[in-house]
Amino acid sequence: MTPGGLPALPPRRIAEAPAPGGSDETDGRCSIETESRGGASAIAFEHVSKVFSGAARPAVDDVSLTVAPGEFVVLLGPSGCGKTTLLKLVNRLYEPTSGRIAIDGRPIADQPAPQLRRRIGYVIQQAGLFPHYRVWENVATVPRLLGWDKRRIATRVDDLLELVGLPPAEYRMRYPMQLSGGEQQRVGLARALAADPTMVLMDEPFGALDAITRTRLQDEVRRIHRQLRQTTLFVTHDIEEAVRLADRIVVMRTGRVVQYDTPLAIVLDPADAFVADLVGADDVLRRLSLIPAATAMRPLGPGGPRPDTPTVTMRSDLRADLSQLLADDVPALTVVDDDGRPVGTLDLAAIQAVSTPNAELADDVAAGTARPTR
Ligand SMILES: Nc1ncnc2c1ncn2[C@@H]1O[C@H](COP(=O)(O)OP(=O)(O)O)[C@@H](O)[C@H]1O
Ligand SMILES: [Mg+2]
Repeated sequence: MTPGGLPALPPRRIAEAPAPGGSDETDGRCSIETESRGGASAIAFEHVSKVFSGAARPAVDDVSLTVAPGEFVVLLGPSGCGKTTLLKLVNRLYEPTSGRIAIDGRPIADQPAPQLRRRIGYVIQQAGLFPHYRVWENVATVPRLLGWDKRRIATRVDDLLELVGLPPAEYRMRYPMQLSGGEQQRVGLARALAADPTMVLMDEPFGALDAITRTRLQDEVRRIHRQLRQTTLFVTHDIEEAVRLADRIVVMRTGRVVQYDTPLAIVLDPADAFVADLVGADDVLRRLSLIPAATAMRPLGPGGPRPDTPTVTMRSDLRADLSQLLADDVPALTVVDDDGRPVGTLDLAAIQAVSTPNAELADDVAAGTARPTR
């Protein structure tokens, strides 16, 4: 087994594999880890604006922010707020009207776009697979362009299909139309990762999927990100998806960044009424579903946990914890860490204490008088 847990697969050939220009001198062995030596990129946006011709206002309006190498950043906001435009400025599908974007300190405007895009994986909503290509050919798109030899491509394709949860023997020869929507998105993800990008852009990749498939793919994306650590920009309009995935969330409104912070900070302390509304500050249960037990629990007293109290994990959300508190009809729950050790206690008062954001905003939102303050 390789360090990340993926088996180092023996070389194999795929029927109909192309004969690209590369040499065949390598033995074709590779795994996701040995291929993934590119590392992760830092991204900096400096006063970036994009005005489409004829538009009354900028689609992206003076955006400045930085993303650290390996960070998973979610762009969150309502339809039309400029998320897709901001993403397309990174792989130069659009050029900014003003301002500048740098990757690892180098302005992207100075780099040939095709070369830039080979280092950037890109996943879009309908997967964008080539319908007349088999699964393996779709995944192999960029490696073929790069002239990898066919064994290396074949091994890479199978490793990637394993990584995204599609057994290669079953899936590699299929056409996109022979896949479910969720499977197509998995292939889209494998294709985006094929040439070992240092950055991945994902534009509402799970927007068209049913809730169960979406949750499953969110878990997969988290797992893959923990394993490969590519810098990721992920677009969504779904706060729950954002909270589940993000290290940090960029909240956007009419082309501008209104808040850039950790999911918890955004839920607990929204910057203005717009963000409060977005995170559902007026809906107590929804809000509780976004906050982990670890945030609300109190430390254990000297006597340790009370005997016979039900346990919940630090990562459980407060909505589920509240349900359990009520269903079990107990005064408190014991919170345990990943190893099952008791670390805190959770009662109704502790949950209530985090059930509303800063009071003034919550009142405005509840009264329907919330106004964006920025
Ligand atoms: N190619 C384009 N030409 C002109 N206007 C565009 C183009 N793409 C997007 N827009 C406009 O820019 C704004 C932001 O769009 P977009 O970035 O697609 O938003 P989002 O992805 O957040 O839904 C919208 O007002 C949209 O109509
Ligand atoms: Mg969009």
